Amino acid sequence: MIKETIINPEACYREAEKKAAAYFQVLFAQAAEKSFVPVLERDFHTWKKNHRQRPFLPFFSRKSRKPDSKAYHSYIKWLEYRGKLDDYLDRSISYLYMRDLGKSLDDQDTKKSIRRAVGSLKERLTAKRQEGSPSEFGMAGLYRWAEKEGLQSAVIWLMEKLQQTAQNIPEGMDAAHAQRKLIKIIAGVLMHENDGMEEGIEGEERKRRLERAIRLGYSYGLTYPFIDDLLDSRVLSEEEKKQYSELIRTTLTTGSVPPLGRWQHAILPFITYVHTELREAFHYIKAQQATETLASFLEQAYVFFQSQEVDRQKDLNNSSYTNEELYIPVILKSSSSRLIVRSVLNSGKDDGFDRRTFYYGIYNQLADDFADLFADLEDGAVTPYTYYLTHHRTRQDLLNPFELYWTVIAHIIHDVYGSDPKASEVILDRAINGLKRSRERLGKEKYMEVMDLFAPGSPEFSRLIQQTAAKSADVDFFDKLLRDHMLDSLKRQRQERDEFRGSVEEVQQKINELLPIKEIELVMEEPVREAANYSLAAGGKRLRPVIAWFAGVEAYGMEEAALMPLFRSLEYMHTASLIFDDLPAQDNAPSRRGQAAVHEVYGTAAAELTGLYLTQKAMEDQASLTSFAPEAVLALIRYTARSTAEMCRGQAMDLEAKGKALTPEQLDALCFYKTGIAFEASIIMPAILAGAERDEIDILKKFARHAGIAFQIRDDLLDVEGDPMLLGKPVGTDSRNSKETYVSALGKEGAKKAMWEHYCSAAELLQELRGEFAFLGYLLDYMVHREK
Ligand code: IPE
Ligand code: IPE
Ligand code: MG
Ligand code: MG
Ligand code: MG
Repeated sequence: MIKETIINPEACYREAEKKAAAYFQVLFAQAAEKSFVPVLERDFHTWKKNHRQRPFLPFFSRKSRKPDSKAYHSYIKWLEYRGKLDDYLDRSISYLYMRDLGKSLDDQDTKKSIRRAVGSLKERLTAKRQEGSPSEFGMAGLYRWAEKEGLQSAVIWLMEKLQQTAQNIPEGMDAAHAQRKLIKIIAGVLMHENDGMEEGIEGEERKRRLERAIRLGYSYGLTYPFIDDLLDSRVLSEEEKKQYSELIRTTLTTGSVPPLGRWQHAILPFITYVHTELREAFHYIKAQQATETLASFLEQAYVFFQSQEVDRQKDLNNSSYTNEELYIPVILKSSSSRLIVRSVLNSGKDDGFDRRTFYYGIYNQLADDFADLFADLEDGAVTPYTYYLTHHRTRQDLLNPFELYWTVIAHIIHDVYGSDPKASEVILDRAINGLKRSRERLGKEKYMEVMDLFAPGSPEFSRLIQQTAAKSADVDFFDKLLRDHMLDSLKRQRQERDEFRGSVEEVQQKINELLPIKEIELVMEEPVREAANYSLAAGGKRLRPVIAWFAGVEAYGMEEAALMPLFRSLEYMHTASLIFDDLPAQDNAPSRRGQAAVHEVYGTAAAELTGLYLTQKAMEDQASLTSFAPEAVLALIRYTARSTAEMCRGQAMDLEAKGKALTPEQLDALCFYKTGIAFEASIIMPAILAGAERDEIDILKKFARHAGIAFQIRDDLLDVEGDPMLLGKPVGTDSRNSKETYVSALGKEGAKKAMWEHYCSAAELLQELRGEFAFLGYLLDYMVHREK
């Protein structure tokens, strides 16, 4: 069935092109006359007065020296010390108000909003906090913000979506990049919504609107990884790309998503996921549109999509593109990407915003493309810079994109912002900052080479901007600092996390080799040793000995070989607890670790004895820790005996609570006893052997309590929504047994909130620990995301 089109794609694209062509003509004329040269010379003359570099005073205290801007916290401190922080934040926020919100800086309300934003950002940045605190940017920071705004559900939803996105993105596309991009878009949409909210909107209404902005941001943001990046990548064949583009085009022209159609087997799971997700996103956005605005929204979306398509089809080796062919799609795509945000939010018309944003787009695009010049060249992507670089020798008529860039700057300052001094100040700051950053990134030599090639205007003007860049100060921006810092720490984290995962696998391997209990001389047949090995050999995550390995070997630097009995004893105790837990008198679970439960195979009596047998084997191992001081070993045995006793009480509480309603405090206590204690022991037993400080032990215990409870909540959630094949144990056991769990007590949503709350508390405690305990952070992430 062919759906009727709501918009006329050719006509609306032509209309948009016409408008872009008119803008391009204006710029082209100004560039040809080089009218930007005298204008910017004058502007820079004034500008420079506020940006003189203070002479370097070597006898000044160390504190006054400018630190590397990548050292995030010390850089902020340095700015504060030099009295530059206010200006710095004002410049940064003002820039965002222009670029992302399309504001005019001489507007009184905007001035007020900027002042307020600067104030609250300053307060956050200068609040006492430790270097590199994870709660600031990570999921814990995000979730704490959500709690303040009452947006927990929306943020949990978002975190699950982000996780899914990363899991589903195939090789050949960059999952981390997709996540970053999504977060950035959502932040932008939130900024718009926040800015559009009149004073006095609070409580439920504010919450509802921010929630909607998060979902809309995600829905719109998805188009970046799943349309633009996907079509740029090599994941789809040329044929498939055509088919996919057609699908998007049909959606945008008819206003409804067509079925996926036929796809090759290999790509099917991914493309099905993309289709489902985009369809849901499209429906959500569509549902927020008023009937009158739907067509104009679709038109705008279509122009955005089509301008990118046109650009994508270009071939760097084709030497015959006209200037118009090169620049008109650039003007269209760069402005649509921001114009559409207001449409997505259905914020109503704002001519000032539309006008400024339309003119602003290409400025941004030319700055970005300049920064990405070499990467784009390598990819063979056509941008104004790569094209000029490739063809300028034979094509005298080609517009120099760097000249156009300065033309746009002059145009924006004077024609769009009416020579407003503040706008001029901020835009010139940004332009000079761009030069400085390029020079840093490319190195002096390559930078000079590039600059010679693109030298804009006249030799005098080129010299002027280079000298200005070399000699002026105070042009840094917070968004750049944040970006550098995030990229740096994400890279470091990714590396550490990969190392952590690699080590976990190695350690699991080692532990598996330790576990089998050797042949014992038999007087007659009895199944205990065999049943123990049956359960041990079935696998399992070995989480508790793995934690003990990291704590013992990494954090406390003890000998791995000396700790082997400890690792074994932890897994024996844990396996025993599972055998007991599955018994008919307890959870009555028929399978465990992907096979029939011990009592199913060996009978209940043998299972009980096997549990007891394993706990005693564990004691034997603990008493065999001969490389350590006897007092330490005794302390350790005392500690585990007590812990095991407490675990029995926890398990009894759990069984006793059947069919009863517990308070959240009671639930926490129960889970800590039945599950958390074993995690605590995994960290504390090595600490005892190492003779750790009391303070450190206290923090570790608190951490383990929150992490252990989070682990059990995840377990309760998996019991309702997990995959039994992955889990290796049946699901639905809890409700069958009328168990009181987090899910039965608080519902799925409530359980997730409780889990993230414990996650945050645990993550915050990590800040107080030494760097050697960083593995606990990765462990914590694993605990709340795990599927088995
Ligand atoms: C299961 O523990 C029992 C709970 C505390 C929820 P694990 O999930 O660590 O089980 P295995 O050792 O991997 O089988
Ligand atoms: C685990 O609780 C408690 C133990 C320490 C055995 P569950 O009863 O929820 O564990 P599973 O789901 O059976 O693994
Ligand atoms: Mg149980
Ligand atoms: Mg159970
Ligand atoms: Mg369970």
